[in-house]
Amino acid sequence: MRELATVLRDALPSAATPAARRAVEDLRTIYRSGAAPDTLAVSDPQRAAAYAAYRMPATSAALYAALTAGLTAHPGLALSADLATQAPLTHLDVGGGTGAAVWAVHRAWPGRVRSTVIDASAPALALGADLARRSGDPALASTTWESRRLAAPLTLPAADLVTIGYVLGELPDPLATALVDAALNAARTLLIVEPGTPRGYAAVLSARTRTLAAGWRLLAPCPHARACPLPDNDWCHMAVRVPRSGLHRDLKGGELGWEDEKYTYLMAAAPTPRDPLAPPTSHADATAPSPAQPTPARVLRHPLIRKGLVQLTLCRPDGTTAQVTVSKRQGAAYRLARHTAWGDTFPDPRASPPS
Ligand SMILES: C[S@@+](CC[C@H](N)C(=O)[O-])C[C@H]1O[C@@H](n2cnc3c(N)ncnc32)[C@H](O)[C@@H]1O
Repeated sequence: MRELATVLRDALPSAATPAARRAVEDLRTIYRSGAAPDTLAVSDPQRAAAYAAYRMPATSAALYAALTAGLTAHPGLALSADLATQAPLTHLDVGGGTGAAVWAVHRAWPGRVRSTVIDASAPALALGADLARRSGDPALASTTWESRRLAAPLTLPAADLVTIGYVLGELPDPLATALVDAALNAARTLLIVEPGTPRGYAAVLSARTRTLAAGWRLLAPCPHARACPLPDNDWCHMAVRVPRSGLHRDLKGGELGWEDEKYTYLMAAAPTPRDPLAPPTSHADATAPSPAQPTPARVLRHPLIRKGLVQLTLCRPDGTTAQVTVSKRQGAAYRLARHTAWGDTFPDPRASPPS
């Protein structure tokens, strides 16, 4: 599979034109306003190209980071059961645009996924199909691109994994709620990613409430199903560093060779198999925590590293947050803390060690 940045450079050779820069500025203005746009933001081929050039590498990287966090924290995830049987994983990407989530999912499971992208923007879908064809990955290239405008009442086709990336904030609240409910009815595993802003966090928090009410199990980032312990003036978010291509720098006028994409997310698994005749390995079994492995905490900030000390801000399995200092005297825990990053898991200091 070729790198997304390389494919974008090949597919959009003359993207850095004045018209393209204007299209980027238009999109940035719409997204910065924070309001759900009345009309589709990615409305024509120029804007689709602008979106792919300046946003898609970052949204794809955030989706990949969230996906791998869910899988790392819960290696027994329902998805892995399908992968063990070699059956292709069915993936539905709602509001998928130019296919950021498709690239992330196929990067995680090369050659093992059958993806369908639904979006209302025909120019975004057309560009997405072109990029996927250029990927050099037959599975990614065979993605189905479906032009559909979401509207309530809403149903979605069943899929092992449903991804909703950077979409909820573009929808009016009732439609965003209907989309989350439809995804909970359609998916075995659900991944929602939004910008790492208070507004993105509010959308994820609302989806979290509905996910728990439907009896789902949270996989990441939350180590518990209690109320989010963060105060009103804080919001749960992570960051992923994304290299900026020359094309990106030309379009956006940035100097740095990278940017930190802040995102907030939720990954969850359905409580029971959809098929009552399915073999006994149920999702609940596959995702249930092993009693010998206590649920780890989640690191909520960049760890602060001082001489001989690492300070971590943790969200803990008991539903509280805490500042924890790990000192060099703690040996293995210190070495682990030194290699722990914002968004990773870390053993809960209050959990009793495995017997
Ligand atoms: C910010 S883009 C995100 C694209 C992609 N998921 C990503 O992560 O890069 C939001 C996408 O939602 C789509 N969208 C917005 N409202 C929609 C609706 N009512 N029905 C279908 N798609 C919609 C837009 O066309 C756009 O492609």
